[in-house]
Amino acid sequence: MVHKRKNHFYEGWLYHLFVDPALQRMRRMIGAQVEPGSTLIDIGCGTGELLFFLADMCSELVGIEASSRMWAYASKRVGAFSPVRILHGDGARLEDFSNGHFDYATACMVFHEMEESQRFPVLREMQRVARTLILVDYRVPPPTNIEASLCRLIERLAGKTHYGNYTSFARAGGLPFLLKAVDLTIQKEISFQKECFCLVKTHLNDT
Ligand SMILES: C[S@@+](CC[C@H](N)C(=O)[O-])C[C@H]1O[C@@H](n2cnc3c(N)ncnc32)[C@H](O)[C@@H]1O
Repeated sequence: MVHKRKNHFYEGWLYHLFVDPALQRMRRMIGAQVEPGSTLIDIGCGTGELLFFLADMCSELVGIEASSRMWAYASKRVGAFSPVRILHGDGARLEDFSNGHFDYATACMVFHEMEESQRFPVLREMQRVARTLILVDYRVPPPTNIEASLCRLIERLAGKTHYGNYTSFARAGGLPFLLKAVDLTIQKEISFQKECFCLVKTHLNDT
């Protein structure tokens, strides 16, 4: 089932033109954490850029996207022989996939824009379908520099609801708070781009 969600003016080709180029470094950083030949699900895949970046090194790649505009744009970019599949759906409802189906579940710049009530259901589904989680988002607390102020301004310009979600994510403590609340231990944490963003990696133990 698709989580009911309003489309935003910047989704689709505008996002691809202006935002995707700025996030290439994040994709390279995520790619560096992924073992060749593995399987991966990307929640909130947007235009599918991370999946296309990983297409040559992974055996199965699934993107889940709640926005119909983003999903339609990403789907058009999938080639016939690609290991990439893009599904229109909600990251909190991954019932098509069994426990541990994937090696990795990723979410890049997704949790800060999610409604507060969605964050734990999505995180729990990611935990259920994959053993290793790789999340990238704003670092909390943000640094006091001009780059962080610019990020805040961009989030504000994306609209009132979007900005409300971003501020509630930051107030709640960002990714470390979310992971701690579901008993996930951070194995690796990398801050980058003037400390504005962080990548966190967690791995579920066998015990
Ligand atoms: C800022 S964009 C990031 C897109 C992409 N991950 C990237 O790195 O460019 C966040 C995306 O997450 C999607 N999203 C938010 N909540 C979601 C949910 N519960 N399930 C699936 N997608 C979701 C939004 O529709 C949006 O396209």
